[in-house]
Amino acid sequence: MAKAAPPIAQIITDLRSQIEHNEHLYYVLDAPTIPDAHYDALLRKLRELEEAHPEFRTPDSPTQRVGGKPREGFVKLPHSAPMLSLDNALNEAELRDFDRRVRELLGEEPYRYVAELKLDGLSMAVHYAQGSMSRAITRGDGSVGEDVTENARTIRSLPLRVKEKESFETRGETIIGRHAFERLNEQREQDGLPLYANPRNSAAGSLRVLDPTITAARQLEYMAYFYFVNGEPAMESHWASLEHLTALGFKVNPLRRLCKDVDELLAYCQEFDQRRDNLPFEIDGVVAKIDSISQQRKLGYTSKAPRWAIAYKYAARQAETIVEDIRVQVGRTGALTPVAHLREVPVGGVKVSRATLHNEEEIQRLGLKIGDTVRVERSGDVIPKVVSVVKTAEDGRSFLMPTECPICGSDIRKLDGEVILRCLNISCPARLKQSVEHYAARNVMDIDGMGEALVEQLVDQGLVKNIADLYDLKQEQLEALERMGRKSAEKIIQNLDASRQRPLSRLISGLGISFVGERTAQILADTFGDLDKIATLPEEQLQAAEEVGPKVAAAIRLYFNDEHNRALIERLRKAGLKFTQEIRTRAVGPMAGLTFVLTGTFPTLKREEAKALIEEAGGKVAGSVSKKTSVVVAGEEAGSKLDKAKELGVEVIDEAELLRRLEINPA
Ligand code: IVH
Repeated sequence: MAKAAPPIAQIITDLRSQIEHNEHLYYVLDAPTIPDAHYDALLRKLRELEEAHPEFRTPDSPTQRVGGKPREGFVKLPHSAPMLSLDNALNEAELRDFDRRVRELLGEEPYRYVAELKLDGLSMAVHYAQGSMSRAITRGDGSVGEDVTENARTIRSLPLRVKEKESFETRGETIIGRHAFERLNEQREQDGLPLYANPRNSAAGSLRVLDPTITAARQLEYMAYFYFVNGEPAMESHWASLEHLTALGFKVNPLRRLCKDVDELLAYCQEFDQRRDNLPFEIDGVVAKIDSISQQRKLGYTSKAPRWAIAYKYAARQAETIVEDIRVQVGRTGALTPVAHLREVPVGGVKVSRATLHNEEEIQRLGLKIGDTVRVERSGDVIPKVVSVVKTAEDGRSFLMPTECPICGSDIRKLDGEVILRCLNISCPARLKQSVEHYAARNVMDIDGMGEALVEQLVDQGLVKNIADLYDLKQEQLEALERMGRKSAEKIIQNLDASRQRPLSRLISGLGISFVGERTAQILADTFGDLDKIATLPEEQLQAAEEVGPKVAAAIRLYFNDEHNRALIERLRKAGLKFTQEIRTRAVGPMAGLTFVLTGTFPTLKREEAKALIEEAGGKVAGSVSKKTSVVVAGEEAGSKLDKAKELGVEVIDEAELLRRLEINPA
């Protein structure tokens, strides 16, 4: 006898649980186990069922993350207990002073610190009642904040439902990852919108908007660091509350550490000062909290801040210097970018002599003139930028954008609604140089030796007018160039030859299509497996690929509709480049769901290569070892990452074993 179909309500409940489980794997643990398309299908199914049966729709359903209607304004709500800030320690001595005060107040009692990274975002309280998220409130003035519940719902790492039925509150930081931040600013630059100065501002700008669909599009994350019931810590120790939050499904920073004394705490601070550039999010210091809640109570508060916690602040990676000139650079897409030429100054250990000014509006906003003293900032690996003018020069010169391309003299124009000017000549030598350099770059076609100096000569002498010309270069032509011996010319010809074998994804990213960076190129190659297909598919079909929206699809079409570009593609085909690859379902493969960390030097593979192989097999590669690391691959002279792996009991393998698992037979 056929089994009766389960009732709709049951199907809906099961679907929700499945979706929540996968959101947790993806957004909280960074370890998805099903392809994105599968997740999308589950969500689509749920949406359809809820549309057909609206009586079953609930505010905590995963379909409700999309962001509702814009509102008129924010409602103010009081906090359960004040959201205080922290006292700062700016150096070792100040941290030791803090520790001394703690010791004096606690007497003989032993105590421990929980060290956490100080995330550069904005704090938010999120309340849960009867197992569902009920309210999210920004910090505001500490006593009263703004109700941003609708916006917070769109943050995927924040659970809408939890297994705990009693009311509680979590406090934590809303942040935007470095990568998402850079992409957001790139997009804003393309759209001609003002750029966000730092991830913190962009997280704030994304959370405190009246239209939740904007928040939904911003890839915000939430990392929880307090668990409160009735406005008070509800566990015996801070560490236990972090573990509890983790168990409830919150994202809690995995890089926390329990320190037995101030020396261990200081070591943690120093370690992460070294590592901060390699973290996926921006930090500005370390927060140390006394672990025991009863000791926290004993220590109490000053009027502004707890006596049981301190923020150890890293030195701002900012410095002051003079703008000696402003010159205009022409980029690969023809964009004219004003660049400040600075009197060289060290910023956080790196010498800086250039800073981007983005566009004309930015210069006006800063009120900058040549000769002014400015504050520059460096964050992560991005190009330094001018944050403010600190002293206006008396005889400062105003800067005006040129009226024609400074390189080729062609017309320049702002495209629809953009703030950036672009040179309209597609064969402008500046654009050409940049696009050849991009094509040859290590993470693109990896043509070693084809750097700025060589490209400059090749373009100036008319030997290279587009990227296909590279493959017609003869050794004698190269030998005739400045600073080029027989040996190096030979090497470059070999490297050019080798680049014919690069995978399709690299070639696609090498073409320099607007909005198509490394990641999108990889997605296109994996989805369609054929350059000719990508070149001819209509926009709607291109959008079948993950992360490819109307804008990217239109840019791809625009590129391939151009007859010069089509001719270029034909020449690349004749040059023997790879136009096809196997179609791959993304995120599944033998390594799906596994996170690797690479350390040391490997006998045959370069780091980049090992990373690419793992990613191709569906695995992830992270920069540092944590409990979530599945496997550490260690080579010669592996350092602290190996120690950390041993300490955490993470599996360690060598290159040979990696290759075996990847089912690759070493040559
Ligand atoms: S604890 C009373 N932990 O830093 C305790 N704050 O200067 C207050 N922050 O307003 C917060 N990461 O926005 C704490 N792991 C962390 C943090 C953190 C970033 C921010 C938070 C707070 C500010 C305090």
